[in-house]
Amino acid sequence: MKKEELFCAIWKRRSVRKYLEKPIEKEKIERLRTSISSLNEASGLTMEFAEEFDSFKSVLTIMFKNVRSAIVIKGKTNDPNLNEKCGYYGEHIVLEATALGLGTCWVAGFNKKSRSLNAKDDETVVCVISIGYGAEAMSDQTAVPDVPHRKTKSVSDLLNGKTDVPDWVKAAIKAVQFAPTAMNSQKTRFQYADGTVAAQIPPGTLNMVDLGITKFHFELAAGGKFELGSPGVFRKD
Ligand SMILES: Cc1cc2nc3c(=O)[nH]c(=O)nc-3n(C[C@H](O)[C@H](O)[C@H](O)COP(=O)(O)O)c2cc1C
Repeated sequence: MKKEELFCAIWKRRSVRKYLEKPIEKEKIERLRTSISSLNEASGLTMEFAEEFDSFKSVLTIMFKNVRSAIVIKGKTNDPNLNEKCGYYGEHIVLEATALGLGTCWVAGFNKKSRSLNAKDDETVVCVISIGYGAEAMSDQTAVPDVPHRKTKSVSDLLNGKTDVPDWVKAAIKAVQFAPTAMNSQKTRFQYADGTVAAQIPPGTLNMVDLGITKFHFELAAGGKFELGSPGVFRKD
């Protein structure tokens, strides 16, 4: 899928926890599977699309209804960048699914004993992403909204108080404001100095997942690439 389509999906996405019985069409599942395997090849992750997913029968997922399918976000336990990569590549799938008209939700509180996770001995499941047709219609707006549908940090909060930055940085931070983060914690902070942007977050598994997600949103808006890690420096195309 083209980067422009993923970028447009940023403004439409929101976490969807209640789904319709309507199954996802075979063609859409195939498309997502193809994309997941090329993302796995690029990253070394082992993410999988699971139909008939059974890991949502847990008190942690009481808010979820009718979850039939999910994407298992996993990789090799000994990958030093596992959590950040899971965020970065998992969010690619989320935005692709959004562009296909599907609802998604990142989930850290899933039943870790589920067989649907299909994890090998040397793999760790970091998160799952529920996926399906949402019970509530997603926004079909084409204009970019001013603010997300829920609370967000301001641009100056995310930039550590700085506001005298170029417009391309502000535009990329806006894409970050619309990114999903665990418990909407929005802890990634961006530094801008001498023409260079860096992203950083305190340590922690879910923080590193959030870092990967927010870096992906920033890159889609700004055109360029972050190096892995915290802090990670951004290089514009
Ligand atoms: C790494 C990660 C883990 C999450 N885990 C859960 C979860 O276990 N249960 C849940 O209901 N939502 C979960 N969420 C969804 C967040 O609560 C949601 O992204 C956040 O509140 C922002 O709302 P939005 O996604 O609608 O923009 C998770 C999100 C991320 C990024």
